[in-house]
Amino acid sequence: MKLIRTENYTEMSLEAGKIIVDKIRTNPSLTLGLATGSSPKGVYEYLIQDHEANGTTYKEVKSVNLDEYIGLPAKDPNSYHYFMNQALFNHIDISENHTHIPNGAARDLEHECNRYEQLIKELGGIDLQILGIGQNGHIGFNEPGTPFTSTTHIVALAQDTREANSRFFNSLDEVPTHAITMGIASILESKEILLLVSGESKAEALYKFVNGEISENFPASALKTHQNVTVIADRDALKYF
Ligand code: F6R
Repeated sequence: MKLIRTENYTEMSLEAGKIIVDKIRTNPSLTLGLATGSSPKGVYEYLIQDHEANGTTYKEVKSVNLDEYIGLPAKDPNSYHYFMNQALFNHIDISENHTHIPNGAARDLEHECNRYEQLIKELGGIDLQILGIGQNGHIGFNEPGTPFTSTTHIVALAQDTREANSRFFNSLDEVPTHAITMGIASILESKEILLLVSGESKAEALYKFVNGEISENFPASALKTHQNVTVIADRDALKYF
């Protein structure tokens, strides 16, 4: 595992953005694994700026997102579909039918999980997966206790995850109780992983990730079994190091 230390969120985003652009320029039909939330937002801003300034093209790039809330249609402003369109897809030249996000409004959710897992395989697997980390060590919506062998599945969200995400909703009651997420095994099959960690609120999780044991009680620890993980963290997240 490689650790890149940065000063702040902007520098973390820049470092990650440079790595992604470099990969796309080397392999223009790359499959990117994407995350939502605060951690990758600055990276997406970097990718948009770079696309505008340097013409990096996403015409052949494919993307698969980690997760989606169950029960929110794509047009709901709190859905991850909406987030991705606003934060990235609407501003680059990626083709809509190359972007994939689990369908949390699917009628048959079990079928949707299998379809999504199969889709990732058909795309030839994920070349580069971007991840954030939850304060409880979750990756995707894989909460503590999720088997490392899990593939795309339905999860009941932990109360602290719902509380952390309620900042985007009018009230905690509006935060969905369930989500579809790629599993830990799905994530570990990615060829390369970039884990973004910023801010003091993630300092404890980052410390546990680096120094703790590999355990299903701390989902991110599974990444320590992967051969090609780069952690990009800022000074506040690194405060216990
Ligand atoms: C988002 C995701 C989550 C987040 C994590 C950190 O698609 O899968 O695991 O990466 O909750 O969220 P932020 O970045 O908002 O602190």
